[in-house]
Amino acid sequence: MNNLIASTAVKARELTPEEIKEIEHEKTHYPYAQAVGLEALKIVQKYQGWVSDESLLAVSEYLDIPPDELEGVATFFNMIFRRPVGKNVILLCDSVACWMLGCDSLNEHFKKTLGIDYGETTADDMFTLIPVPCLGACDRAPVMMIGRETYYNLTTEKIDEIIAEYKAKG
Ligand code: FES
Repeated sequence: MNNLIASTAVKARELTPEEIKEIEHEKTHYPYAQAVGLEALKIVQKYQGWVSDESLLAVSEYLDIPPDELEGVATFFNMIFRRPVGKNVILLCDSVACWMLGCDSLNEHFKKTLGIDYGETTADDMFTLIPVPCLGACDRAPVMMIGRETYYNLTTEKIDEIIAEYKAKG
């Protein structure tokens, strides 16, 4: 278990009314509250940007799921961020089709142009780069997602254009 959570110094924060409303809605889809753990973490992340120890404890208390069990869910599901992330999270697929079509060179390109490797965030907090398993579009590999947008048939030139658009939006 995460050391911070093991320490009594970390206290659960209060969930916001919006978070509670959405978690309650999710509960209607599951036979028992404990099954909602992952969805609740995703809801918290949607509002907070990432899942701090305080947030994880809040969900744990709200749904009556032991913190270490919830931590296990968060660790297993690599779209749950347990550290602060940048404003735009780049999910670069590194599964087999994307790998065969050069996602490694795209990763290198991110290192060169943004100065970040997997798991890192740019100094201006604009971008975080995360490797993810297959995004379900292997016929249009290499693929990445930023927010809700999916980008296909990537090249270094396309990436430069996409990143420039996000930078322009600020
Ligand atoms: S392997 Fe990358 S989208 Fe399937």
